[in-house]
Amino acid sequence: MKAFSRQSINPCIIATQYAVRGKLVLEANGIQKEIEEAKKKGKTNPYPFDKVVYCNIGNPQICNQQPLTYPRQIISIVEYPELLNHTSFFPKDVINHAKKIINSLGCTGTSGAYTNSMGVVQFRKSICKFIKRRDGTAPSPDEVFITDGASTGIKMILNMLISHPLHGIMIPIPQYPLYSAAISQFGGFQINYYLDESKKWSTDMTSVRKVYEQAVEKGIQVKGFVCINPGNPTGQVLTVQNMKEIIEFCYEKKICLLADEVYQENIYGEIPFTSFRKVLKSMRDEVKNTVELVSFFSVSKGFYGECGKRGGYFQIENINSFARSQMYKMASINLCSNVIGQEMVEIICNPPKEGDESYPKYINEKMSILNSLKRKAKLLHSVLNECEGITCNEAMGALYLFPKIKFSNKYIDECKRKDQQPDEVYCLRMLKSIGVCVVPGSGFGQKDNTYHFRIAILPPENEIQNIANKIKIFHTSFMKEYDH
Ligand SMILES: Cc1ncc(COP(=O)(O)O)c(C=O)c1O
Repeated sequence: MKAFSRQSINPCIIATQYAVRGKLVLEANGIQKEIEEAKKKGKTNPYPFDKVVYCNIGNPQICNQQPLTYPRQIISIVEYPELLNHTSFFPKDVINHAKKIINSLGCTGTSGAYTNSMGVVQFRKSICKFIKRRDGTAPSPDEVFITDGASTGIKMILNMLISHPLHGIMIPIPQYPLYSAAISQFGGFQINYYLDESKKWSTDMTSVRKVYEQAVEKGIQVKGFVCINPGNPTGQVLTVQNMKEIIEFCYEKKICLLADEVYQENIYGEIPFTSFRKVLKSMRDEVKNTVELVSFFSVSKGFYGECGKRGGYFQIENINSFARSQMYKMASINLCSNVIGQEMVEIICNPPKEGDESYPKYINEKMSILNSLKRKAKLLHSVLNECEGITCNEAMGALYLFPKIKFSNKYIDECKRKDQQPDEVYCLRMLKSIGVCVVPGSGFGQKDNTYHFRIAILPPENEIQNIANKIKIFHTSFMKEYDH
């Protein structure tokens, strides 16, 4: 048998699925290629649209979101210090910040050398100050690991928690499929707790407890509880009360809380973002000092959207020194995370302050991105709700909407007969009819007999109304065709 055959490859890898870049996206790439080739050869475009609009993923810069000037200026200088001879080209604070970063990178000042496995210590100190501004108290730099995006940290933690098929991780459904993929890859047990769509996708503790008990009855040892706040794909923002209940639950059951807070700057509604760390610190001593918490941050989201830089960190609370040393060892096996990503994390966590030369431009760029995201979220939300057969909760945060579609029994039966997923067929038809690439709800998990899709709110603002209108027209004709 070959080493790489269906029979011999690790079955956990074969079982792993990741919808955000799955079948629909491959199809979308094929369509885009066909359009481009037809254009090159002077042939007629086989599709009734000029390009695919990728609403499948939270990748802001692929949708033309412009990078912030301040971090890019600093990184340019750090990468090419010759630019320090052209100081008139850059604001003073940019030059100073770049020099600080160069000094932090050791005696050579180059980003081409490996760093400390957890990331450059001065960068971790900046992260601690950022956390202090946010939470009122600072962690120690020894509790911060800089990673290649949040994904690497999430996978490291799940890998450490799972060492047996009966080790369970509770994840929200719908979820970001990194979690199901990683649990499957590491051979653990996925325990689904369902978010309550009728209550704006909140976390219902009665059902959390029920699901927990059912898992324990099956002999599962529950080791982790994942919370994505603000939610992906569901866009909810947790209330402090809800967060306290979740922490109490983790305390009572001795479960590690994994707080995925990568969308913490993407807030559009009434409920402000509060970190799990801050809420934990406000609780009584035995809770505050015992609940194991790992929280994740990323430079991919927020208003910075620097997905390709692969920068992120995780910060730990109440993790004992043995476990921390194992984390250090795991980080060391990778030597270190990429250094430009590390720099990006430092700069995002240490932005210009009022009075700095770059401050007005920075704030202007930040607010125009966040305000535009808010407007786009509202517009898509209202157009989707105008579609007959669609109901959609508002996005209180994050970068997505997750509308529910009510299909007719006739259509559902027809899909079942053909062994197809109703929401996948719908999304494929949407892609081929109007060129909008969204992800079927089945890729994120959804309650049985409910159907959704996830749409990112990222297309440029001058295109979003048109996209929303096209979706409405497509939806209406799809529903008519299947006699809904
Ligand atoms: C909820 C959530 N967590 C983590 C990630 C991973 O982000 P990255 O690895 O780019 O930091 C994503 C990316 O979309 C996400 O949506």
